[in-house]
Amino acid sequence: MAIIGQGYVGLPLAMAAVDAGWTVIGVDIFEPKVTQINGGSSPVEDITDIRLQAALTNGFYKATTDYSLISNASVITLCVPTPLNQKREPDLTLLLSAAKAIAPFLSNESLVVTESTSYPGTLRNEIIPIVNKLKPKMSENVYFASAPERVNPGDALWNQKNTPRLVGAIDAVSQERALAFYESICDATICVSTPEVAEAAKLLENTFRLVNIALINEFTQLCSASGINVHEVIDAASSKPYGFMPFRPGVGVGGHCIPIDPLYLSWWARQNGSEVALVELANQINLEMPNFIADRAVAMIDSFKPHPKILILGVAYKAGVGDTRESPVLELQHALESKGIEVAWHDPLVPSWRGTKSVGLDWDCDLAILATKQPKVDIAFLLNRGIAILDCTNSYPNTTGVTSI
Ligand SMILES: NC(=O)c1ccc[n+]([C@@H]2O[C@H](COP(=O)([O-])OP(=O)(O)OC[C@H]3O[C@@H](n4cnc5c(N)ncnc54)[C@H](O)[C@@H]3O)[C@@H](O)[C@H]2O)c1
Repeated sequence: MAIIGQGYVGLPLAMAAVDAGWTVIGVDIFEPKVTQINGGSSPVEDITDIRLQAALTNGFYKATTDYSLISNASVITLCVPTPLNQKREPDLTLLLSAAKAIAPFLSNESLVVTESTSYPGTLRNEIIPIVNKLKPKMSENVYFASAPERVNPGDALWNQKNTPRLVGAIDAVSQERALAFYESICDATICVSTPEVAEAAKLLENTFRLVNIALINEFTQLCSASGINVHEVIDAASSKPYGFMPFRPGVGVGGHCIPIDPLYLSWWARQNGSEVALVELANQINLEMPNFIADRAVAMIDSFKPHPKILILGVAYKAGVGDTRESPVLELQHALESKGIEVAWHDPLVPSWRGTKSVGLDWDCDLAILATKQPKVDIAFLLNRGIAILDCTNSYPNTTGVTSI
């Protein structure tokens, strides 16, 4: 099989497929990444170097920039980024260029699957016409399905194997082939009637998270103004055995999915003459959180301090990964700086970020904000220095010197 894009989605999928007995070609256009991977060094936290090296040494996997090497593949999955353009609208440039690049090398009877997140209709209206136009004449039968990736990087429990996989194909033969493929690597597959259902389900999943995070972020601001501990409220509500699911407040939403996918949804709604007012409001509420946290931080610093300094702990968008894409911590930094505060940051998984480097925990500061709980950050070291901590992750409840948002 061949996997196009060797990032947070493509590389773990490659390793899961190797474990299931497939021989995998991983194609990526970014040559330094290909060199790194073939050198046995994993660019993704969830894949250890040892696991990668075993797959490379046994000859079951290799990365390449050369698309022609996919010509023997019976299954090709597209796992490339689907970001936003400057207008904050879907940008399918990379996905469409990947479709163009695979097409000339597709063999007869091969299966093409899109795993990248996109709006309903992407496979049918965007990918299939390109592939059918550019595929070799002798490759008469090419099959198509959508199986959106649901992986949650840094999650110790849920992975490609044990997360049920949605599969929606363009016709019955495609569905049969796509199910056979995913059944070989996943514990459970779920058949849906069309690719559009699978594509829409993925957008619904991430929009559900966005909206619920916004609700709890708004609730947090209310509780804070009334002196109520929102975490105690969430714990109390969670005791209801049905109809409630706990979400926790934080700096905002980040990463390649939750801030972006709802914008794919709202763009798609506009194409259909509709709007998603709730989703847009939720987005707005989440974007206000960095300001709220900056205000809370300022209130914790002695107002007579002439040049206040704050150390941000964790700049990745979530715990356990070094991924800073769309991290809301950037807006937190801007909000603090706009209040005249000098800001530095510490993140053991992110050596450099936007041209600055992670500083040590001994950096001279008046307050630390725990924005993302990364492993191996010695909170006790800061507390022993007498540095108070504003904790946006509720990781240290009932700890002297630590205040949860
Ligand atoms: N990261 C996640 O947690 C996650 C979870 C579920 C779904 N997704 C979706 O999966 C898709 C991929 O996300 P990701 O996080 O793996 O991205 P990523 O940036 O980690 O990796 C994508 C890789 O694709 C390569 N690439 C880009 N264009 C290419 C092309 N034309 N040909 C070959 N390689 C190309 C890039 O160099 C990069 O290495 C996106 O649609 C994303 O929304 C991501």
